[in-house]
Amino acid sequence: MIITLTLNPAIDHTVVVDSLVLGDTNRVTQSRTDPGGKGINVSRVIHTLGHESLALGFVAGGLGRFIEHDLKEQGIFEDFIHVPGQTRTNITVIHADSNIRTAINERGPEIASQHVAGLHRRIKKYLRPGNWLVVGGSIPPPIPPSIYADIVLYAKNRKSYVVLDADGEALSQGLTAKPYLVKPNRRELQRLLKRELRTLDDILKGAEEVHDNGIPVVVVSLGEEGAIAISDQGRWRAIPPKVEGASPAGSGDALVAGMVLVLNQGGSLVEGLRLGTAAAAATCLIPGTQLCRRQDVERLFPQVQVYSL
Ligand SMILES: Nc1ncnc2c1ncn2[C@@H]1O[C@H](COP(=O)(O)OP(=O)(O)OP(=O)(O)O)[C@@H](O)[C@H]1O
Ligand SMILES: [Mg+2]
Repeated sequence: MIITLTLNPAIDHTVVVDSLVLGDTNRVTQSRTDPGGKGINVSRVIHTLGHESLALGFVAGGLGRFIEHDLKEQGIFEDFIHVPGQTRTNITVIHADSNIRTAINERGPEIASQHVAGLHRRIKKYLRPGNWLVVGGSIPPPIPPSIYADIVLYAKNRKSYVVLDADGEALSQGLTAKPYLVKPNRRELQRLLKRELRTLDDILKGAEEVHDNGIPVVVVSLGEEGAIAISDQGRWRAIPPKVEGASPAGSGDALVAGMVLVLNQGGSLVEGLRLGTAAAAATCLIPGTQLCRRQDVERLFPQVQVYSL
C-alpha cells in the first residue's frame, strides 16, 4: 500500500483574469477549486492512474471537510486528523494574456501537540512492512522541522520505504534519518547543499553527494529538462516530451506519484522514472492546479526518453 502524508493541506483556488490591477475590481473569467498539498496531490495522481493510496494528515474547519468530501467523492481513501482552525487556501491568479501567475498562500492552522501525537498513532495504525510512505510539503507551526526525521525513523523501523519531498529545514533535517528516496528540484537541492548548481554536471555531483550520505535513491527534477536519478544500480536521465505553454504546478508531485506507483509494485527505478515523467508532463498540459488526465499520461508515456548516464 501507498500512504501519503500532508501536514499542511490546502484548498487550491485558481482564478483566471483578463486584467489584474491593484486596487481595482478584477473580474474572474474561469475558476476552479481543488484539494491540494503535496501528499494529497500524489494520492490524486495515483488514483488517476487507476491505483489506490491512503491520504493522511491534518484538516481543519469547513475547508478541511471540503477536502475530505472531495477526496471521498473521487474514491480516494483518507483518514485525516481534525484540528481546530481552518485549512488554508492557496490562491493562484492567472493573467489570461501573459499566462503570468501570481500566488497568494496562507499559512494554515497551528497544530497542538496532542494532535501531533494523534498523527503518530494514525501512522502506526496503518503502516505495514513493505508499505511506501510519501511525506511532502511544508510543516505547519509550531511543529518542529524534526518531525519528518521522526516519521522516517519510525517507518524504517516498520520496514517501510519513505519518500521525502520537502524544502529547507524540513528537507535537511528529514534527510538525517535517511529516507529511501528524496526528490528535490534544482532550487531545493541548491538550498540543501548551500551552493549554486549551474550545469548538469554540478547537479549530478550534488545528487551524488546526497546519495553518498546514505540516501538510496536521489531524484532531482529539472522542470522542462526532466530529471536525473541516482541509485546504487546506476545514474539515469529522463527527458519529457515537449509541452507547449506548460502549466507545471503539481508536476513534481505527479513525478513522485508515478515513481512510487511503479516501485510499490516491484518495478525498477527506470520504469518509475518513465511513468513519473509521463505523469508530470501530462500535468503540465492542464492549466491551474488540476493534475493530469490518464489518457494524456498514456499518450505521452512512449515519448519519454530515459537513458543511462
Ligand atoms: N515544461 C515542461 N514540459 C514537460 N515536462 C515538464 C515541464 N516542466 C516540468 N516537467 C516535468 O515535471 C517534473 C517536475 O518538475 P519540477 O522540477 O518543476 O518539479 P517541482 O519544482 O518539484 O514542482 P512542484 O511545483 O510540483 O513542486 C520534471 O521532472 C518534468 O518531468
Ligand atoms: Mg516540488
